[in-house]
Amino acid sequence: TESISQLIDRLAAVVPDYPEPGISFKDLTPVFADAQGFKRIVDAIVDPFRGTFDVIAGLEARGFILASAAAYATGTGMLTIRKKGKLPRETFAESYQLEYGEATLEVHCDDVPTGTRVLILDDVLATGGTLGASTKLVERAGGIVVGIGVVLELEDLGGRGRLSGRHVHSLSAV
Ligand code: PRP
Ligand code: MG
Repeated sequence: TESISQLIDRLAAVVPDYPEPGISFKDLTPVFADAQGFKRIVDAIVDPFRGTFDVIAGLEARGFILASAAAYATGTGMLTIRKKGKLPRETFAESYQLEYGEATLEVHCDDVPTGTRVLILDDVLATGGTLGASTKLVERAGGIVVGIGVVLELEDLGGRGRLSGRHVHSLSAV
């Protein structure tokens, strides 16, 4: 039978020269749009962490797709980590570097009861800025990060190194 990385390879759309010349972009939307593909990646992304988490954190925007489905499938709640300025109550904020400039993520201070075990999910691990900032946010809010799951890891960008000491599981890598 087809492995999870083979399934991602088969269904993902490779876009040459996007977002800039020389970059080959792997678009995961066809994986999400496929009934079997979506079910298999959601099941596989939580599999290594089963029984170890109380809540699943999703990172706006593409992480929401995975985290909400995985939370529903495993009977947990979903923790919302959003881009700056979207959450209405008191937040913790963490900034991280983008290629040009910086970005900020936020979480509500009281959405994570102290000691809550949190699994963080996102679609792609690239430089690790997004997941690094999210890890800090969960911990500042009182949670314990038990693991990080992604569908696709871009190994050349060194994101895993920026998340050292964390249990990072990727379903596929390029
Ligand atoms: C993309 C992707 C990851 C992040 C990975 O999100 O969905 O969250 O970049 O990059 P990094 O490891 O270098 O931080 P993006 O910020 O483009 O926004 P979106 O999810 O809202 O589309
Ligand atoms: Mg994202």
